[in-house]
Amino acid sequence: MKIKFAKEVTEATGALVVGVEEGLKLTATAQTVDEATNGAISRALKGGDFEGKADQFLEILAPANSDHSRVILAGLGKAEQALDWQNLGGGIAAEVLTKGDKDVSIALDADGEESAHVALGFRLRSYHFDKYKSKDKPGDKIKLKKLTVVTHQDNQADDLFDGLDAVAEGVFLTRDLVSEPPNVLYPESYAKQVKELEKLGLEVDVLGEKEMAKLGMGALLGVGQGSVRESQLVVIKWTGAAKTKAPLAFVGKGVTFDTGGISLKPGPGMEDMKFDMGGSGVVVGLMRALAGRKAKVNAVGVIGLVENMPDGNAQRPGDIVTSMSGQTIEILNTDAEGRLVLADALWYTQDKFKPQLMIDLATLTGAMMVALGEDHAGFFTNDDGIAKKLDAAGAETGDKVWRMPLHDNYDKLLKSDVADMKNIGGKFAGSITAAQFLQRFVNKTPWAHIDIAGTTWSTKDSSTAVKGATGYGVKLLNAFVADNYED
Ligand code: BES
Ligand code: MN
Ligand code: ZN
Repeated sequence: MKIKFAKEVTEATGALVVGVEEGLKLTATAQTVDEATNGAISRALKGGDFEGKADQFLEILAPANSDHSRVILAGLGKAEQALDWQNLGGGIAAEVLTKGDKDVSIALDADGEESAHVALGFRLRSYHFDKYKSKDKPGDKIKLKKLTVVTHQDNQADDLFDGLDAVAEGVFLTRDLVSEPPNVLYPESYAKQVKELEKLGLEVDVLGEKEMAKLGMGALLGVGQGSVRESQLVVIKWTGAAKTKAPLAFVGKGVTFDTGGISLKPGPGMEDMKFDMGGSGVVVGLMRALAGRKAKVNAVGVIGLVENMPDGNAQRPGDIVTSMSGQTIEILNTDAEGRLVLADALWYTQDKFKPQLMIDLATLTGAMMVALGEDHAGFFTNDDGIAKKLDAAGAETGDKVWRMPLHDNYDKLLKSDVADMKNIGGKFAGSITAAQFLQRFVNKTPWAHIDIAGTTWSTKDSSTAVKGATGYGVKLLNAFVADNYED
């Protein structure tokens, strides 16, 4: 699908989308179309319950005196923020994509910036993961070749869309990685795929088990030891600012499949645990977005890739491991594995790169889904400035976040009789004790942990994503970087 911007409607055929304001006021273009089609729009508006609100659409088939296959009225509602226009673009995509048109023109009388966001929303919603379907692919129904977004500021839209499109590519990469089945995407195949991003100007280094053992990463390695797949640590670097500038660091949990290990998970629903690498997927997608739009920032992504399996060599409840930090951990539940992977990945990152700040993402706890469902991700931070910036980026992008507490009283729940800490808290506050655990591996670095257990995967469609892998987090952190850390 090609996306272009133009000053006027250039396609005389295909679907034409025009805007109607709340209260049924026609935009100038809608007015022109109404006159050219002998009042087709005015007539259509009389009959129905269409009021011009957001998420409302009305389709007029084969309008008189026109070669357009259909005219679609899109309710503009109270569209103001960039996100409103993205959602509108996504809604339009949902409306037209499967109708068989090769050409779609969207003429909402919006300015350049608004139009670029309409195009982004449209593109995000057009994503399907159907590479493993040999028939009945959802993508087969999409015949669209060219999308034209009409705006008097077509050049501005074009310039802005270049950057937004790079973000969409990042979101798609994350969705692809999260959607891949665990027999295809495992630590080594995953690392190989990330290595290919070097084409975009990223620097990618892969550490295997030998190197990690040398570094003393006993926590991460313990998780992977029951799997026949070799664990990997992948470092992705983007240098877009002066080399001397300390980087922003993003760290991701990449458990390519989480059976729970010897503390085995129940069978029903276990297949969901292919998305337990979601945090790492966001880091990879984000790095791709930063490189794609040549962000003026230094960033490093570190992802810990392991498979959590139960076999004769698997880690046992009762084992004590030594992390790279030197702190020892009593394993009381092998299903609390994400924090073990992150413990070494975080320590390594702050030690090796001395970043200005560190943000980790992980599908860390089921308790996070109990608390916030599929809508908001919970975050924890030792820095109020980061909290403010994450809140703002969440509101701007629609990747919503909610701050959760850190406190000594929760940290105490990790006390072990035989080691420096145990890897589980207790019955209560499961997401918080997990975050407290991570905090023991970040030293004084400004840091945030985002638990995306509920937001990585969606059981229902949204305006800008069909159900499945959401790519949640890429837009959030891209905005976090763009709004605060680029010169
Ligand atoms: N990957 C899971 C968390 C998870 C569960 C994410 C469901 C998304 C959906 C994590 O490794 C895990 O198993 N956590 C345990 C921790 C517990 C043993 C302390 C959990 O949440 O039950
Ligand atoms: Mn687990
Ligand atoms: Zn897990």
